[in-house]
Amino acid sequence: MSAEVSSGTCILGIESSCDETAAAVVADGREILSSVVASQIDIHRKYGGVVPELASREHLRQIVPVVREAMEQSGLVFGELDAIGVTQGPGLVGSLLVGITYGKTLAGALGKPLIAVNHLEGHIHAAFLEAQQRGEPAKLPAVCLIVSGGHTVLYEVQAGDAASSQAFVYRKLGQTRDDAAGEAYDKVAKLLGLGYPGGPILDRLAASADHAPAPVRFGPTKTRGNPLDFSFSGLKTAVLYHVREHPEYREEIQKREEAARLGQRQFEEVRQLCSPQTLGLVREFQNAVVRDLVERTLAAAEQCDVETIVVSGGVAANSQLRGTFEERAKTGGLKIYFPSRMLSTDNAAMIAAAAYPRFLRGQFADTSLNARASMPLA
Ligand code: KG4
Ligand code: ZN
Repeated sequence: MSAEVSSGTCILGIESSCDETAAAVVADGREILSSVVASQIDIHRKYGGVVPELASREHLRQIVPVVREAMEQSGLVFGELDAIGVTQGPGLVGSLLVGITYGKTLAGALGKPLIAVNHLEGHIHAAFLEAQQRGEPAKLPAVCLIVSGGHTVLYEVQAGDAASSQAFVYRKLGQTRDDAAGEAYDKVAKLLGLGYPGGPILDRLAASADHAPAPVRFGPTKTRGNPLDFSFSGLKTAVLYHVREHPEYREEIQKREEAARLGQRQFEEVRQLCSPQTLGLVREFQNAVVRDLVERTLAAAEQCDVETIVVSGGVAANSQLRGTFEERAKTGGLKIYFPSRMLSTDNAAMIAAAAYPRFLRGQFADTSLNARASMPLA
């Protein structure tokens, strides 16, 4: 990240689709001048998931200071911005509206164009953005897996031609039939008394499971019809039934819930409260999720005959997922791109980056811009 003033096209990105209020300034779609993320995890934690009403209220409180900080860190003043990019959807309508209303007002007051961005396209740009920054732009066509708390979807991404109104053209190859992978992480963590969000803690516990015996094994998930579709609710239910049928888990779950209430959330504290059986269970759960994500993505790459795979979204921060993809990509002669962990989860740099090609094509929104809870890319 740099605080130097850039002479390029500077876009302020605003993201408020779920439980992160974020603002960032990105020059020419690839140079991050600032990126600020205010997470609401502490607010939603005690409910075990995002509470939409609380999320919108918190966005309202955070949006002004977060944008102000992003501007300060960028070293720019509002007048030096070229455009404002804002997430239009998909997401929680009340939350999206906070960012959209703020973006519209700011763009109107500054006399700058407003650009509507699809959150999913933002996640894809997060990976492209850093690849470009490293001087190794991702070769298209590519297969892209977006895997987060709200989405698990596979796209083929092609470059739009000069006549096309889009920089990238998307074709959906498969998606989850039920829960998103991140949602499965969050639900399994909750039922094991491991708090919210579940991904980061389960990731670390699985890595520390070593040779803990497997109390259960989960086979590959079969989905009828499209073989590139995912399904995670069966796996989550299998974990639930396994835990219910084995009363020995009960006591440690209660201990962990009590520890969480007392604010004991340090990894080592939580790890101490996990039996080898629980560690084995967490590892088997993660093995199953990672296997399904990797196998279907590789099958998609083969089907589309592409050499590039892009993986983005909150679950892309997962160490085992990254490691397995990298290993498999190497043996398969594929190039794999992940955003850094910071840019894997929700942020606004990805929104500003996705706004840039639209800026170049003059695709601007007007004051009628509205939030879209559902907004498929293809
Ligand atoms: O992209 P994101 O910040 O928000 C959505 O658009 O959903 O993703 C959040 C999701 C949560 O479900 C969280 O548990 C999961 O990403 N997550 C992880 C990891 N870090 C975050 N899942 C697995 N391993 C991780 N290290
Ligand atoms: Zn997201």
